[in-house]
Amino acid sequence: MSAPVVVARDLRQTYEIRRGLFRAPARLQAVGGISFSIAPGRTLAVVGESGCGKSTLARMVTLIEPPSAGGLTLDGIDAVAPPRGERRRLRRTVQLVFQNPYGSLNPRKRIGTILEEPLAINTDLAGPERRARARAMMARVGLRPEHDARYPHMFSGGQRQRVAIARALMLSPKLVVADEPVSALDVSIQAQVLNLLADLQAELGLAYLFISHDLGVVRHIAHDVLVMYLGLAMEQGPKAAVLARPLHPYTQALMAATPGIGGRNRARVVLRGELPSPLDPPRGCVFSTRCPHATERCRAERPPLRPLDERQVACHYAEEFRGGAPAAPGAGAPPA
Ligand SMILES: Nc1ncnc2c1ncn2[C@@H]1O[C@H](COP(=O)(O)OP(=O)(O)OP(=O)(O)O)[C@@H](O)[C@H]1O
Ligand SMILES: [Mg+2]
Repeated sequence: MSAPVVVARDLRQTYEIRRGLFRAPARLQAVGGISFSIAPGRTLAVVGESGCGKSTLARMVTLIEPPSAGGLTLDGIDAVAPPRGERRRLRRTVQLVFQNPYGSLNPRKRIGTILEEPLAINTDLAGPERRARARAMMARVGLRPEHDARYPHMFSGGQRQRVAIARALMLSPKLVVADEPVSALDVSIQAQVLNLLADLQAELGLAYLFISHDLGVVRHIAHDVLVMYLGLAMEQGPKAAVLARPLHPYTQALMAATPGIGGRNRARVVLRGELPSPLDPPRGCVFSTRCPHATERCRAERPPLRPLDERQVACHYAEEFRGGAPAAPGAGAPPA
């Protein structure tokens, strides 16, 4: 297998939240130690509810925010403390595609200009060559090259997301971080954009860090899956293991909440209760306040992420969920 494009080791991000003049700032751990690697041509999908730290992870991997701790290597270069002279190459290695291309595309610029801009800033290419490359990229993502004089508002939502993908690819990155890239699109358009991303990956050998709250989309596009909850990994590994036989009650609950996913053996776990405040996370397992199987041990002792059945899982009782969800784990219930 080829060398990974990105390696993240125990990445963390903590924010200080001001609480007025006379109170000490609170510390919010948005990402609490996430590790993964992605090889060329592979997709790691990050799933989890709103606020679990997906976008924070994306900002660290795309160098928008330095992590407060942990290691990040992009294409073999240390991205946390890059060697002198490597910053520029580093920035070209990774590109970000946002959920809302309307917000990320300058409404006053023509599409051709938007696509040429990265080349103008980062390369010595002359105008005609830049224009030719922009037009070729438009064709590649399924847009008509002669539309390069149009403005963003003259395109549909799906076309605008194609423009955003085209712009991300202008500098030939090796890693594309896509943060909910199809969530704002109609379902019929979603499939087209997902297929485009898959085609581009096959053709260019791109690695994707694909962020989504939608397991249906994840099942379609992922090779590996990382399930996050309150900034921590609950379960991660090959899609074929994690989604076919989830061992964490949180993964099981997410799957139960997604129509059309999972098989007849799918565990019926219903997510109850509110997401705890990230300012005051549960002491033991962070999922214990909403887990239907939580025991005293879960409330007291945080389960480490550990290898089991071709994936990693952070649950004291994961072995007992191999056959679905038993009635009372930890109480001597035999595996179903
Ligand atoms: N700049 C910041 N300052 C303070 N807190 C932040 C900051 N950015 C994010 N957070 C907090 O960190 C946590 C994770 O936020 P993040 O945006 O990464 O979640 P997310 O998984 O992307 O959510 P969503 O699905 O809604 O996009 C949240 O509790 C959020 O309020
Ligand atoms: Mg987000």
